[in-house]
Amino acid sequence: MQNPDTTVSDWQIRHAVLRDVNAIFGLIRAHQDDLILRPIGDIIANIDRFFVAEKNGRIVGCASWKILPEIGSPESASVEVQSVAVEFAYRRSGIGKGLVERILQEIRQFHFPHAIVLTFAPNFFRSLGFREISKMKVMHKLYTGCIGCTKYADPFSCPEIAMQIDLPTDDLSRK
Ligand SMILES: CC(C)(COP(=O)(O)OP(=O)(O)OC[C@H]1O[C@@H](n2cnc3c(N)ncnc32)[C@H](O)[C@@H]1OP(=O)(O)O)[C@@H](O)C(=O)NCCC(=O)NCCS
Repeated sequence: MQNPDTTVSDWQIRHAVLRDVNAIFGLIRAHQDDLILRPIGDIIANIDRFFVAEKNGRIVGCASWKILPEIGSPESASVEVQSVAVEFAYRRSGIGKGLVERILQEIRQFHFPHAIVLTFAPNFFRSLGFREISKMKVMHKLYTGCIGCTKYADPFSCPEIAMQIDLPTDDLSRK
């Protein structure tokens, strides 16, 4: 479908606020074949971890992130990119990329060594620098997220692809 916009400069990415909750809920529900559904309460409780893309006062995209701690190894904690969705009519104009890049920028301050995603859209994440990894490397994610899945009995038979991006920390000052 042709993108209806003539320019892409009229959308902006920003931190989500509470008035965005219903729009985020609707966007995730509209993509339930691709995303894990999230109750309103979960979106509210994690509103500080959401970014939205706004166009002419309307929310047309969202994305969020979650910390995955590693027992006994605090500095190995990673970030999972979650709930990335762009309204169909506004796709392929850089909004999804902008949302994920904004998350990667946001989490730099915490020095996470990498971010991961489980996704049905590998080409999108590949274009952002993510590479495919074995699901065995994200067992913590499988235990915390996939264990509640209602679509697949076993995460290893699920067609979602595990991907990772390494985050450079060399240039960050360690105080
Ligand atoms: C995946 C998704 C978020 C991409 O959003 P988008 O705004 O269209 O993505 P962008 O315009 O920023 O695309 C960036 C690049 O990703 C790649 N890409 C995006 N969608 C793609 C697709 N369907 N097939 C192949 N490559 C794709 C392209 O390289 C693209 O660059 P280009 O347009 O210059 O070729 C959107 O298609 C979507 O909401 N899908 C349903 C939900 C989903 O699968 N979310 C991801 C799981 S967390």
